Amino acid sequence: MNTKLLMVLSGMAAISISGQVSADAASDYTTNCNSCHNVAIAPALQAPGVGDKAAWAPRIAKGMDALYHTALNGSSVNPVMMPRGGSSLGDDALKAVVDYMVSQSK
Ligand code: HEC
Repeated sequence: MNTKLLMVLSGMAAISISGQVSADAASDYTTNCNSCHNVAIAPALQAPGVGDKAAWAPRIAKGMDALYHTALNGSSVNPVMMPRGGSSLGDDALKAVVDYMVSQSK
């Protein structure tokens, strides 16, 4: 990973940490997850971009529980996906955001 990418990532982590609990999954997504999961940057991070059906298909095939598990605990293969995406969202709010991301990507 090069220095420039690291600088971009640390900037995004600072943004995502400021996330707060809300009943609105779409706005929770925008606040906490879009910095990495928007289709413009996601491929560079090896993250699935929201709306990128091809990127999500193999992940959706694992089942929602597997996706919730990664969202809650972070990725075991890619540390860029931190527990809760670096946010302070509660379990239910976080799962609602995952549902939203999947609904936009299939
Ligand atoms: C700092 C960048 C970053 C942020 C912020 C981030 N993600 Fe991710 N996310 C990733 C990366 C990279 C992956 C790919 C991980 C992998 O392949 O295991 C990923 C993967 C995922 C997956 C797929 C997991 C799977 O098992 O295939 C879900 C679901 C997900 N993120 C949800 C979220 C949610 C919800 C948020 C916001 C609360 C969020 N992410 C915020 C980088 C991020």
